[in-house]
Amino acid sequence: MLTLDFSNMIARPGAKDAPEGAAISESAWKDAAKRFADADAALRRQYAEGVLGFLDLPGDAALAAQSTRFAADVRSRFTDVVVLGIGGSALGPIALRTALRPSGWNMLDANARGGNPRLHVLDNVDPVTITALLDRLDLARSLFVVTSKSGGTAETMAQYLVVRGRLEQALGSEKAKEAIVLVTDPEKGALRAIARSEKIRVLDIPPKVGGRFSVLTPVGLLPAALIGIDVGELLAGAGDMRRRCDTTELAKNPAGVFAMAQFLADTTLGRHVDVLMPYSDALRDFAAWFVQLWAESLGKARRTDGAHVGPTPVAALGATDQHAQVQLFMEGPADKTVTFIAVKDEGIDVAIPTRHRDIPELAYLGGHRLGELLDIERRATAGALAARGRPNMTITLDRVDAWHVGGLIMMLEIATIYAGALYDVNPLDQPGVELGKQFTYAMLGRADAERARQEWNMLPQADPRWSV
Ligand code: PA5
Repeated sequence: MLTLDFSNMIARPGAKDAPEGAAISESAWKDAAKRFADADAALRRQYAEGVLGFLDLPGDAALAAQSTRFAADVRSRFTDVVVLGIGGSALGPIALRTALRPSGWNMLDANARGGNPRLHVLDNVDPVTITALLDRLDLARSLFVVTSKSGGTAETMAQYLVVRGRLEQALGSEKAKEAIVLVTDPEKGALRAIARSEKIRVLDIPPKVGGRFSVLTPVGLLPAALIGIDVGELLAGAGDMRRRCDTTELAKNPAGVFAMAQFLADTTLGRHVDVLMPYSDALRDFAAWFVQLWAESLGKARRTDGAHVGPTPVAALGATDQHAQVQLFMEGPADKTVTFIAVKDEGIDVAIPTRHRDIPELAYLGGHRLGELLDIERRATAGALAARGRPNMTITLDRVDAWHVGGLIMMLEIATIYAGALYDVNPLDQPGVELGKQFTYAMLGRADAERARQEWNMLPQADPRWSV
């Protein structure tokens, strides 16, 4: 079960210390029902237009089978799998590995990994990281998954060129090809062209699924299947959540509630920053996945008047961030909401031994458990924030397993589409990253970047007076 408790977002008579305007009034929430019906209608319209392909992924058995079959065929041949990709092509696989494989997966020996390979995800072009990884891999037993929806992203293509060169040096050209699998659009892009011309194996990202919504395509499913994650359960959990959210009734729609609560908190209470704070190390990287989804989908110019809108997502981790960011959340600007993620059953707990009974700072801990401490700290932090007029809500998962993670992914993806409708932006594009890309092409001498080169050359130069 996955629940969303948003009591601490709604103004309640009991919260006597909470300042005026610190929470959404009950009447504002009631009025939101009509607004939500419009957002839901917008989602249904987009779905009918065929642009929300991610909603169909839980039922796409043929697509899932591409990953599971490929993984079953090759898994035993490789000790290491390396995903080459960035953004939506990398954050999903990282989040799945951290959430659904035992802690420290890549440091475990093969037996402890059940014979499954390690999983590395590059997600950058830092030469230090790439050199270190390639130097320690046994290239004859490594599989490189080159993932790019567009099939032409500079960072991923650069990673691919470096890896392909290293593989050919080490293994020769035919064996190098066998060490590579591509994940990309079924028709378009440079990677698809390479797959065709060089007969390299390739899996499909459906055309109507964009990068940050693609974790339930081979982008996430292939690495997941390769390291032994139950892909069927991921999709089953996502499918269950898709059905739960298939209602115009706001009170019954977890994705709708999440989006609406964040939207009202932003636009009526000035809470522009949306913190996601799991109290579970397994979900630490999930928060980073959410940050990309929320930021790149919602931070943009409004359709109707071009005004710049969108919440700023922030990732935090409980209890760690109680000693880093929570001070800011409590007493810094009143511009945030915090969404906690609680886990009912962590599957393991550790008793805290009783010792030093005469030292008050330690004595009270004995007899409790670490999981209990973690959960109590979450409840305490949520209560403390609410008591000081800092709105927050809590998503509770029974367990961190594939079913629940699939559900959480689907809930936040649907919430993103609702939020796009509420903010009146297109949640599926990212025009704001284009100019930086064009300037990069210009500086690297890409042939079709002439206009960007001209604009780049017109920019004012750095002024030595303003440099120390
Ligand atoms: O959400 C998106 O579309 C982007 O963040 C992409 O995931 C990212 O830019 C990588 O793109 P691609 O998968 O086309 O290489």
